[in-house]
Amino acid sequence: MKIKRLWWLLPLLPIACTREYVEDLRGVCFERDVLPVFQSNCTQSGCHNSQDREAGYDLTSYDNIVSHGIVPGDYKASKIYKVLVLPGGDEAMPQSPYSRLSDEQITNIALWIDEGAPNSTCNDNTVCDTTDVSFSQSVMPILQTYCNGCHGGSSPQGGVNYNNYNGVKTTATSGKLLGSVQHLSGYSPMPQNANKLSACNIAIIKAWVDAGAPNN
Ligand code: HEC
Repeated sequence: MKIKRLWWLLPLLPIACTREYVEDLRGVCFERDVLPVFQSNCTQSGCHNSQDREAGYDLTSYDNIVSHGIVPGDYKASKIYKVLVLPGGDEAMPQSPYSRLSDEQITNIALWIDEGAPNSTCNDNTVCDTTDVSFSQSVMPILQTYCNGCHGGSSPQGGVNYNNYNGVKTTATSGKLLGSVQHLSGYSPMPQNANKLSACNIAIIKAWVDAGAPNN
């Protein structure tokens, strides 16, 4: 059902001629658009992390993600894609109480599989800008991508609730937010089961905390 979102690409194909054009157009990059989605939404305790490996799936790293349930070049045949778009039932993922993925996240995964499921890193040359940082435009999007598979939805993990400003503000003020993303001793390193956030994302969060963690 959700894959209907991809249909808009079809009329573009004859004009585009090459696959590269479509890739450039979308610019899906595994490291930025796919890996954090799996790490944040699928690796909770009892789920698809390297210890629990629920149903044999470990979705914490590239090698483990592609070794099982992905058919490169064919998203419709890929089990991991199929369970994301099931309307409900035992096999639909992520399971309750965790939130389902957004249409954009599922589309990115489908495009990435269609492109052959490469271990692509982003050519991101943009300069890290921490001058105009706000909660809603800068910090929340980072938390939504990297943290809210566990700290959002109806069952936030570890008593850390990032569904709204107040929950984030609490851990910003206590020092836990920066301590955990900077991997300082005395704090649980976050995001759990995932790579450390990029230096730029950490700098953005730090700039916001240093400014008094305003609700802006
Ligand atoms: C895969 C699940 C998962 C993801 C993703 C995740 N967390 Fe956590 N987080 C937990 C769990 C479980 C706990 C409670 C146990 C613990 O402290 O290790 C926790 C605890 C925390 C704490 C309290 C730490 C402390 O030392 O008391 C903070 C702050 C936190 N997370 C922030 C984040 C941030 C910020 C991100 C994203 C950058 C993130 N988490 C991503 C599962 C996750």
